[in-house]
Amino acid sequence: MKDKPTVLVTRRLPQAVEDRLRRDYEPRLNPEDRFYSSDELIERAQGADALLPCHTEDLSAEVIARLPDSVRAIANFSVGVDHVDLEAAKARGIIVTNTPDVLSDATAEIAMMLMLGAARRASEGERLVRAGEWRTWSPTFMVGIQVTGKRLGIIGMGRVGLVVARRARGFDMEVHYQDVRRHAASLEAGAVYHETIEDLLPICDFLSIHCPAMPQTRHLINEKTIALLPDGAVVVNAARGTIVDDEALIAALRSGKLAAAGLDVYNNEPDINPAYRELTNTFLLPHIGSATRETRDAMGFRALDNLDAIRAGREPRDRVA
Ligand code: DGY
Repeated sequence: MKDKPTVLVTRRLPQAVEDRLRRDYEPRLNPEDRFYSSDELIERAQGADALLPCHTEDLSAEVIARLPDSVRAIANFSVGVDHVDLEAAKARGIIVTNTPDVLSDATAEIAMMLMLGAARRASEGERLVRAGEWRTWSPTFMVGIQVTGKRLGIIGMGRVGLVVARRARGFDMEVHYQDVRRHAASLEAGAVYHETIEDLLPICDFLSIHCPAMPQTRHLINEKTIALLPDGAVVVNAARGTIVDDEALIAALRSGKLAAAGLDVYNNEPDINPAYRELTNTFLLPHIGSATRETRDAMGFRALDNLDAIRAGREPRDRVA
């Protein structure tokens, strides 16, 4: 890479991150924060040494094959890398990095908010107050599900899952988890390990999804797996929409099999399945898991630390391909 490499930055980034980019690189910024189509991204990447994309960009095998030879690195501003075909990048010798760790606290906050919002009917209540339709208080008014003391199942006990478990303990929840491998007892901190999701689901009053999106986890939450949950369970997803089969989740919310769902991520964002909007037992957020000032700065700095390492010929800390 050149001394001041050219970096195509696909979205507007926090000011401090763009300042550092300007100081150390030749950035091609996107001040209007316009979404680039794949064709436009490829066009803008001509002559660039690196890309700094977000999860909103499609870096499929087809797009990667069309990137100019000048591109040596893709330093993602995201922990999730399901938008990048890692094998295709590897095949072209393009280094790919992500931004783990720095968004775990913020995302865990949103997962807790989804649990609380869904269980305590936050959307319904807020709509009522805003619409000026709140008329009375009564013992049977807007009664929801208590979170405190319930059994929480976590699918994917990685960085975010572990923080969710810690926060949930603050609500006296009994934590259970499923992952490909069991953590050491010190990390588990009393959480109960389940080898399969079939074993985990029947005990989940609340289910929180934190596994990565990949072919093996696509539609992991489907008609069959939802049937294994206790009646009246609450499902929350702050990971990726593709892990959930929308039709199955919507059917279960309609039938009352599930009491509620809290969602921050969706299939085909932002054109989500409209049925989610019509249901009263959904608490819906617009993919803001990592959206705090602290975290967005930290994500940008982490992406730049990775680029700095690549530029210096060192192994980047967060290499995923
Ligand atoms: C991530 O980092 O993967 C978040 O979903 C935001 O992109």
